[in-house]
Amino acid sequence: SRALKPIAAVAVQNGAKNFSTTSQKNFKVVVAGASGGIGQPLSLLLKQNALVTHLALYDLAPVTPGVAVDLSHMDTPAKVTGHKGPEQLADAIKGADLVVIPAGVPRKPGMTRDDLFNTNASIVRDLASVVAKEAPKAIMAIITNPVNSMVPIASEVLKNAGVYDPNRVLGVTTLDVVRACSFIGEINGVDPRTVSIPVIGGHSGVTIIPLLSQAKPAVKLTNQADIKKLTERIQEAGTEVVKAKAGGGSATLSMAYAGARLAGSVLRGLAGEANVVECAYIKSDLTEAGYFANPVLFGKNGVAKNLGYGELNKFEQELLKAAIPELLKNIETGVKFVKK
Ligand code: NAD
Ligand code: LMR
Repeated sequence: SRALKPIAAVAVQNGAKNFSTTSQKNFKVVVAGASGGIGQPLSLLLKQNALVTHLALYDLAPVTPGVAVDLSHMDTPAKVTGHKGPEQLADAIKGADLVVIPAGVPRKPGMTRDDLFNTNASIVRDLASVVAKEAPKAIMAIITNPVNSMVPIASEVLKNAGVYDPNRVLGVTTLDVVRACSFIGEINGVDPRTVSIPVIGGHSGVTIIPLLSQAKPAVKLTNQADIKKLTERIQEAGTEVVKAKAGGGSATLSMAYAGARLAGSVLRGLAGEANVVECAYIKSDLTEAGYFANPVLFGKNGVAKNLGYGELNKFEQELLKAAIPELLKNIETGVKFVKK
């Protein structure tokens, strides 16, 4: 296989901090969809990140300037600006280093992530076209569902504008990793922060492939039926939240936590820190699917290296086999949307 051995994410993140003295440490970060269920707590967490010197909050919601004023009273260095409505979007995006996108509608019980496509596709397309114009070097981190299709949409828009760099467009799958670590921590009776595991593929149902065989420490499950059950819980964890919120939306707080972690890792890479590794859904030639999530190394220009996914056991090979047709379909839907 062309896949490389993944590096244990947590171990690496806690490893050597290799700052060069000339590295940039002041970044403009945009949250597009900043007033929503994810956007507000995500912005709260990003305001606490010392690498962020300008936090620009963009949303259609009238409350957006108020969210910015509210956060601006926090005694952390980031300047916070609020931008409401399409006429203020260019100003929000201009000169951004990182644009995090949780804009769009969430699921209600009974819906799949694909059911969100019709509403969210044009939102991500329009945001990407402004990024192409105002901040063509920015890293885009897309949270909006269906992630599997939204990343191809943003990529096609950037391609059409002549500014596409596959190392700068990411689908955020960090929540799948966070969930896997949390559930394994529970099973093993250990602090979940000490657990690391690659979750590969995409971000919906069968495309979410937790590589339990590569978890560190090893998952304390020996029975294959239990391993299957845990795999399915991780795959369906988003639906678990949607059901529990009973019509009130999907995961917001755990997503904000995961999104802030991913954004923080991207910024640490941009700042020149060594060995910053996270799983992310990126342009990829490791499988038949043109986009695929697995551990990647972040650097000064976004993705510095695709670390691949290592050895899969038989069960995981079957999971991958089931994921590929779904990923191909999701990717094609996104590409076709922009081409039409
Ligand atoms: P929400 O409805 O609470 O918030 C969405 C926000 O987007 C709202 O404030 C809305 O005004 C704003 N918005 C809508 N259109 C916009 C536009 N054109 N430009 C800017 N802002 C716009 O929803 P939420 O719970 O925050 O979820 C947002 C998205 O994130 C959903 O698509 C959801 O499925 C997805 N999500 C992804 C993950 C993941 O793991 N990647 C996890 C959870 C949720
Ligand atoms: C999640 O995994 O929580 C998100 O993708 C939201 C959803 O619709 O499940």
